[in-house]
This record gives sequence, C-alpha cells and structure tokens, in this order.
Amino acid sequence: MTKIRQTALITGASSGIGLELARLFAKDGSSLFLVARREEKLKVLRDELLLEWPNIKIDILAIDLSKENGPRLIYEYAQKNKIAVSILVNNAGVGCSGKFADTDLHAQLNMIQLNNASLVELTYLFLQPMKQMKAGKILIVGSTAGFQPGPFMLCYYASKAFVNSFSEGLAEELKNQGISVTLLAPGATATEFSQVAGIESTALFRSPFVMSAIDVAQRGYQDFKKNKVLCIPGYLNKFLIMSLRLMPRSWVRLVTSNLNQQRL
Ligand SMILES: NC(=O)c1ccc[n+]([C@@H]2O[C@H](COP(=O)([O-])OP(=O)(O)OC[C@H]3O[C@@H](n4cnc5c(N)ncnc54)[C@H](OP(=O)(O)O)[C@@H]3O)[C@@H](O)[C@H]2O)c1
Repeated sequence: MTKIRQTALITGASSGIGLELARLFAKDGSSLFLVARREEKLKVLRDELLLEWPNIKIDILAIDLSKENGPRLIYEYAQKNKIAVSILVNNAGVGCSGKFADTDLHAQLNMIQLNNASLVELTYLFLQPMKQMKAGKILIVGSTAGFQPGPFMLCYYASKAFVNSFSEGLAEELKNQGISVTLLAPGATATEFSQVAGIESTALFRSPFVMSAIDVAQRGYQDFKKNKVLCIPGYLNKFLIMSLRLMPRSWVRLVTSNLNQQRL
C-alpha cells in the first residue's frame, strides 16, 4: 500500500461521504480540489482541514454538476490554476423518489445529468492526462442500488446501475495501464442524501442496514488504496447483494419495492 501525496479532485465534498473522503485524503497528505454547489460549506471544510494539515493545498470551486457545462468548467479551472489532478473521486449524486409517472420529469433528468452524464464527462476529461502519464487513480461512488431495479426510486437505481457498470468496465479496460478504478458501492448511509431524496421514512432507511458516512468512506478509501475494483461496505450490504443474486427476479423486485416504500 502506497502513501498518497497527490491532488485529489472530489465532487460532492460539501457533505456526507464526499466530505469524509476529503478528510481521509487530507490526513494522508493529498492536496485537494473540492467541488460542490454550496461554497460556504466547502470554505468551512477547507479551513478545518488546513488548520489540521497546513502543508497541503486546497482549492475549492462551487459548481452545479446537473448543468451540462459543469464538468468542462471544472476541467478549465484546474488547467488555469495548474491543479494537476492525479486522483479523481466522482462522488456527487442525488436521488429522486416516488412513483415514476407522478414525479417531476425535470428533477429526474437533472439527476441523470449529475449522476451519469457529468460523471462520464469528468472521467473522460481527467483520464486524458492520466493516460499520458500512465498513472492515476479513480474512485467512483455507485451504490448497492445499482445491482437491482428499484421501484419507487426507478431512475435513481437505474442511474446507479449505469455508474456501477461503467466503473467496473472501465477498471477492466484500464488494468495494467497504471490507472486504477475503484467502485465504492455503499448501501443506505446516514447523510443528507435521504432527506434530499425524500426517503427518510422508508423501511430501508429505518433498517439496521444504515451505516455512518465515516465508516463507508473509510472502507472505500482502504480499498481504493489497495486498488480494489469493487468495495461494498458492510457485511449486511454484502449479504443483501449476494442474496439478491440468488433470488428469482420477481422476488428481487418485491423486496426492493417494499424497502423503498414510505412507512408512517
Ligand atoms: N446516502 C446513501 O444512502 C447512499 C447510498 C449509496 C450511494 N450513495 C451515493 O453516495 C454519493 C454521496 O452521497 P451522500 O450520501 O454523501 O449524500 P449527501 O450528503 O447529500 O452528499 C451529496 C453531495 O453531492 C453534492 N451535489 C448534489 N447535487 C449536486 C450538483 N447538482 N452539483 C454538484 N454537486 C452536487 C452535494 O453538495 P451540494 O448540495 O453543496 O451541491 C453533496 O456534497 C452519491 O453519489 C450517492 O448517490 C449514497
């Protein structure tokens, strides 16, 4: 396992898993390029980290990755400010809940832009210098949601199926080329995510499956440092994914549907 002393670009660093990952990278001596929409939160995090780790450099940028030009603006900012990104952490993401036909289409499409299109574009852009250097590391936050269909959170589950598949496939394409790709696929995690997605009172988020953001980030970070391709944090989540693989698909749909429904 190598000590990491490079610059990590982390999307969605203003809260939850991304924020905890930023703390772990900083502790290991990485400089940081932190991105999210809420600039104030990024500033608070930057000040906290610099107080503890004054020798690292931290850049922040407030950007909306549900807008088409988001990834390009991040790339151009990095170039203009000579930020040599050798580690890319694609973490920013949101969820939408409800019966698909009754949801706000605009919100669903924004989510797909953020969770999928922006992630693909950022990866493509920052992969180019990594390819030239024959060195780099990519950590992508997918989800256990991406391993099955998700009634009542349809587009979110489908977006994470894309992320999971993209990440594992990319890891295979890039193996032996000096660039590692790790897919961190957490299950339910206590962050702002459930509140933003409106799923705090679902059976899933009231279950013992819920992990803390620190635990998820630590396990993901450990596996990332070991260049592992897939990290599913938590024994319960691993067990759930294993059992879903063995179940008939009709049961899988039923289980997920029940987990995603609101409990009063
Ligand atoms: N929590 C869970 O149960 C869970 C489970 C599996 C996977 N995940 C995945 O984990 C990742 C991190 O989520 P989290 O649980 O840590 O939730 P979180 O606390 O809500 O964090 C989400 C992060 O994404 C950023 N973000 C949201 N919309 C954005 C936009 N349009 N442009 C730029 N940044 C945006 C947020 O910052 P701003 O609001 O400041 O923009 C925030 O920093 C997501 O990809 C999520 O799908 C979460």
